[in-house]
Amino acid sequence: MRFYITTPIYYVTDVPHLGHAYTTVIADVLARYHRLRGDNVGFLTGTDEHGQKIARQAEAAGIAPRAYADKFADAYRATWKALEISNTDFIRTTDADHEALVQELWKKLEAAGDIYLGEYEGSYCVACEQFYTEKELVDGKNCPIHKRPVEVVKEKSYYFRLSKYQQPLLDHIEKNPSFILPRERRNEVVSFLKGGLTDLSASRTTFNWGVPVPGQGSDGKHIIYVWIDALANYWTATSRDTLRGFWSGDGQIVHMMGKDILRFHAVYWPAMLMSAGLPLPTTIFAHGWWTVDGHKMSKTAGNVVDPLKLAQDLGVDAFRYFVVREVPLGGEGDFDHEAFLQRYNAELANDLGNLLNRTLGMVTKYAITPHSMAVDPFATARTQADYAAALDGFAPSRALDDIWALVRKGNAYIDERAPWKPDAPRAEILGNILELCRVLSHLLEPFLPERAAAMRAQLGLSEPMAWPSWSARSFRTEAAVPLFPRVDDARKHELLERWRPRPAAATAAASAEAAHDARISVEDFAKVDLRVARIISAEPIPKAKKLYKLMLDLGKEQRQVVAGIAERYKPEELVDRRVIFVANLKPATIRGVESQGMILAAGEAEVLGLSALDREVPVGTKVR
Ligand code: MSP
Repeated sequence: MRFYITTPIYYVTDVPHLGHAYTTVIADVLARYHRLRGDNVGFLTGTDEHGQKIARQAEAAGIAPRAYADKFADAYRATWKALEISNTDFIRTTDADHEALVQELWKKLEAAGDIYLGEYEGSYCVACEQFYTEKELVDGKNCPIHKRPVEVVKEKSYYFRLSKYQQPLLDHIEKNPSFILPRERRNEVVSFLKGGLTDLSASRTTFNWGVPVPGQGSDGKHIIYVWIDALANYWTATSRDTLRGFWSGDGQIVHMMGKDILRFHAVYWPAMLMSAGLPLPTTIFAHGWWTVDGHKMSKTAGNVVDPLKLAQDLGVDAFRYFVVREVPLGGEGDFDHEAFLQRYNAELANDLGNLLNRTLGMVTKYAITPHSMAVDPFATARTQADYAAALDGFAPSRALDDIWALVRKGNAYIDERAPWKPDAPRAEILGNILELCRVLSHLLEPFLPERAAAMRAQLGLSEPMAWPSWSARSFRTEAAVPLFPRVDDARKHELLERWRPRPAAATAAASAEAAHDARISVEDFAKVDLRVARIISAEPIPKAKKLYKLMLDLGKEQRQVVAGIAERYKPEELVDRRVIFVANLKPATIRGVESQGMILAAGEAEVLGLSALDREVPVGTKVR
């Protein structure tokens, strides 16, 4: 059977963190599980590189957007390699084949009569790359996600007739209970749909970092809305050799993602597919959100978890295991560094690591050739059925519970059968444990690909990974090397010290973000009352060689201000000059002289220039 699984394509705005790694690891676990079952697996991840957000960041960094994207696309690729992600392709929305096919998809929507030209007027959040209705805004002006003012956009825009698909989508969801999972998320989408759909603004004209709308002539300025471009990746990639045939309507198509972007996947994307006459995905699964030590993960808080750092310190598989085991898929999770070490020692080093290690130790000590019996004392087949049901039902943490039930049975069996007793049938007892470890090495592969391979090497096996079944056999084992060396208290402290957010780094990141957040809205700017003023007179202030006391004419009134321009201008140079004046500043007393406002100037001492207007404008006129 064909099994096609995708992750979101990630924005090239930064290097991957825990959240991105989580989605990708989950998708990898499912991909590897399906390979184990003998399915033909396609697994796609990649990067989302067009749109205003990337264009602006690249511009701020002073690099061309594609070069900017290269850097982060490489970081994503490298991270996935380090985390043993087994994707069969990696798509970038700037890949030429993708761009061409996005235009093909657009033409299909157009051919269905679902594209029309209109004008968009409303709010846009660049960080979300999303339009918001007035109703959705917080305090009438802020993005509900970023809590920052949205931008007001007014431009010609092509529209996609999304409203037409309201009922077809509701019908499809009702007929296909596993189309949107988990159930709570499906209910959210259903109530959103029932609230009514408006058509989707599907093109932008005010910047050009994107895929041009096809067929608009050479002077056309429209580029395809970045989310349409991005969502299309799941389909465009299936024209590549690596994924050919995966969008043909047989087999499964699974989109894995965080709950933040469910609406795009569960509403816009299927509507587009319906319009284009293409098959719909089988399942859209939205998982929950990770926090870190109880707090929202953000650069501002300085607590962004770097999966590579954890993997370097404790092993890739330890990281993979923890994130999958800690939270039932779909639920919310907290990344508690101590809990990570706790599970590592108890479940990986102790339960699993020891099972293999102590057994191999005894094989060497007693110099025997272990041999498993035909009858399976652990009923592994039954557990395998539970494990498969769990994974087929998107419950990987439950599949791990099933595996650990077997691991514990194995350890209990050793204690009970006591192979160290002089008359114990050691070859049989240890053989059975090794056969259990062999079965486990297959079942663990989706979760711990690297350590599963190490297990098999120690078991002296070279058989290919496949769905295992218990059998009688002899083992020629290798020397025991702990799979997961225990972390003692000293090392634990050292690791926690390294992993936990550092206040200094946190502050630097916070001020960078604060600077970004310090941008003001037009309304904020309008609070400053700037006026054209004429200087009537300028006189020195005793014992303050930099300062003048100026009298200003504002038309309806006169004002006295203190200005630090005495080193650069002579009084007679100033008289009659028009300057820009801040009229609503709170008065202040400088060197005993009251200053009732401020004139605008740039620079200081030697290099100083007064604000000026390039032609005569009546005094008192507002400056905007
Ligand atoms: N580019 C869009 C997706 C387009 S898909 C056609 C995008 N990119 S993103 O870089 O912002 O990645 C969002 C995804 O990252 C989430 O949906 C989720 O999979 C993952 N996560 C990011 N932060 C997360 C947490 N704190 N917790 C869990 N997953 C999170 O959106």
